[in-house]
Amino acid sequence: MSRPLLVTGGAGYVGSHFAAALEDAGRDYVVIDSLERGNASFVPTAKLVVADISDRNTVADLCREYRPKIAVHFAAFAYVGESMSDPARYYENNVTKSQALFDTLRANDVEGIVFSSSCATYGIPDISPIDESAPQRPISPYGETKLIVERLLAYYRTAYGLNSVALRYFNACGSSATRPLYERHDPETHLIPLVIRAALDGTPLRIFGNDYDTADGTCVRDYIHVDDLADAHMLAVTAIEHGRELPSMNLGAGFGMSVLEVVAAAQYATQSRVAVEQAPRRRGDPAALIASAALAGRCLGWKAQRSDPRSIMQAALLGERRRRDFADPQ
Ligand code: UFG
Repeated sequence: MSRPLLVTGGAGYVGSHFAAALEDAGRDYVVIDSLERGNASFVPTAKLVVADISDRNTVADLCREYRPKIAVHFAAFAYVGESMSDPARYYENNVTKSQALFDTLRANDVEGIVFSSSCATYGIPDISPIDESAPQRPISPYGETKLIVERLLAYYRTAYGLNSVALRYFNACGSSATRPLYERHDPETHLIPLVIRAALDGTPLRIFGNDYDTADGTCVRDYIHVDDLADAHMLAVTAIEHGRELPSMNLGAGFGMSVLEVVAAAQYATQSRVAVEQAPRRRGDPAALIASAALAGRCLGWKAQRSDPRSIMQAALLGERRRRDFADPQ
């Protein structure tokens, strides 16, 4: 029988969708989440331990109780803008605490880590689509913290035999088809939840820049359904459990949508008009970020299944309805 998994940040957006996939697969796991940004209702109470990942005693106790072989590490702060204004917080939370976590885990017989990394590690790419050979030159403390942890894990693998894989997400979006989960950030800054809100409420959506070097002048991103991300994590966990050595991998749909294309898809999904307002460029936004996900296809047999524009918009609309049903103030 497989040993339980330790899931850090399992009450967060991507982590909770992965925990749901574990439930569906009948896998045993325990979540550690500080709830600083996570939502307790996203995880079954019996599976949730509220603690900081740098709390060495609690993590060691969890390891002794559950004997996890693999940890899936989602816990992190993930706002690019916030990381620019308060980098200290990002280095402390995303790097220092991750290192404390890994040191406790390796001292307690955990053999592998599946790590949430980001396309933000690439910065402004020279090529599109971006494959994993692209240079990693982050332009924000957020991207930098993810890159530092990737590198730390690579050295830990060589030096201590702690196996790991970094999964570089592009733009996560949508929500579970079956579980009462939804995208929840405070404040919400992401395009897809905001465009759905704009459609439902009739409030205008601000478009940050229309003079980029893209087909319609607005930024292009690769939007990936959060359940597709969860699938990739399941496959990565199995591979690491079997002791496979994996390269860092991009997780994206493999095509881009401009802000205006997202607006059109949201209008179609909601059958409502989205009023738009032109706004200046947002600091640090690259013109286009599109993944080549071929490596994840080759190494994990993974491919996005539900990340076509129609499916992600339906999933985002469903998530927004759930958020409103829960009277979530965010
Ligand atoms: N946008 C708008 N109006 C809005 C919100 C966003 O025009 O109200 C635009 C942005 O300028 C950007 C696109 O929509 O061009 C997508 O923006 P998001 O904020 O949804 O996502 P980002 O691309 O900024 O962020 C994502 C991930 C981060 C990651 C980053 C790397 O969410 O975790 O890409 O650049 F770090």
